[in-house]
Amino acid sequence: MVNAMHELTEPDTARTPGHNLHLQVPAPVAGSAAAPKPAPAPESGTAMSAHDVSLSFGDKTVLSGVDLEFPAGTITALVGPTGCGKTTFLRSLNRMNDRVPGFRRTGTFTLFGDDLYAPSADPLVVRRRVGMLFQRPNPFPLSIHENVVAGVKAHRLAPRNKLRDITETRLREVGLWDAVADRLGSSPFRLSGGQQQLLCLARALAVEPDVLLLDEPTSSLDPVSTEAVEHLLRTLSPGITIVIVTHNLAQARRLSDRTAFFFEGRLAEAGETEQVFEQPASEATRQYVTGRFG
Ligand SMILES: Nc1ncnc2c1ncn2[C@@H]1O[C@H](COP(=O)(O)OP(=O)(O)OP(=O)(O)O)[C@@H](O)[C@H]1O
Ligand SMILES: [Mg+2]
Repeated sequence: MVNAMHELTEPDTARTPGHNLHLQVPAPVAGSAAAPKPAPAPESGTAMSAHDVSLSFGDKTVLSGVDLEFPAGTITALVGPTGCGKTTFLRSLNRMNDRVPGFRRTGTFTLFGDDLYAPSADPLVVRRRVGMLFQRPNPFPLSIHENVVAGVKAHRLAPRNKLRDITETRLREVGLWDAVADRLGSSPFRLSGGQQQLLCLARALAVEPDVLLLDEPTSSLDPVSTEAVEHLLRTLSPGITIVIVTHNLAQARRLSDRTAFFFEGRLAEAGETEQVFEQPASEATRQYVTGRFG
């Protein structure tokens, strides 16, 4: 539980894009060689980026030489055959692989220009600013209400007397309110898998992240809930930068502004979704988006 909470939370911090990731940067000492290096200049309009990134587990390299930018306020779909590294890449965008035995990374990830993996960057700050929804729902062993506000409370983002309103707002936002309004104090584990996923989405949104990472978020949802979640993501996307892994090419096509296709250990292609689907630059992409493999 403590670990699960840590994966969601970090101490209170400013919430505007561009605020740096260094929670407690020591004051530079005059003349000290140990003064922290200034963060790289923010790339205008880019929420997150990967530069020459390679990711490995032990001696197995999953991805190498990945260059990818996520423009602020856009939705990017990550697609590719099973095992091509989509989840590994997504998890690296909020340092979720840090404690995985054997995980290694080279290259640079940035969040609004800050180096995500700088020694002074706090992974817990990263994980509040870059929220994540996993493929399998992971409610905490708390009540439904306490799940929604877990991160809000941990970061002291709102006074206690506002927590009930936050729960209602977020549960309404994800379309779960009517189903759970009369059992906010109950365990989430009696909810269906799809409802648990919506609860986790409400929890992720409650801390108002700058970026939301979603790993096949609708694979356990029915078509009506899937459509509702897609509509919600569209509504959110001008304010939140969204990166979604999906095997559902129709979903990638109707939902995303940009699509990145991973294949055989590389980023084979990335660009505007329409271009990637209509006029792919690579033959592998063409075969994949026309359903020839994967
Ligand atoms: N914790 C780990 N330890 C060792 N190898 C791992 C670990 N996690 C993933 N891998 C390996 O990395 C490769 C990429 O896995 P990943 O889960 O990122 O693929 P994916 O594209 O998300 O696949 P899928 O579409 O099936 O979800 C696979 O070969 C997998 O076995
Ligand atoms: Mg995966």
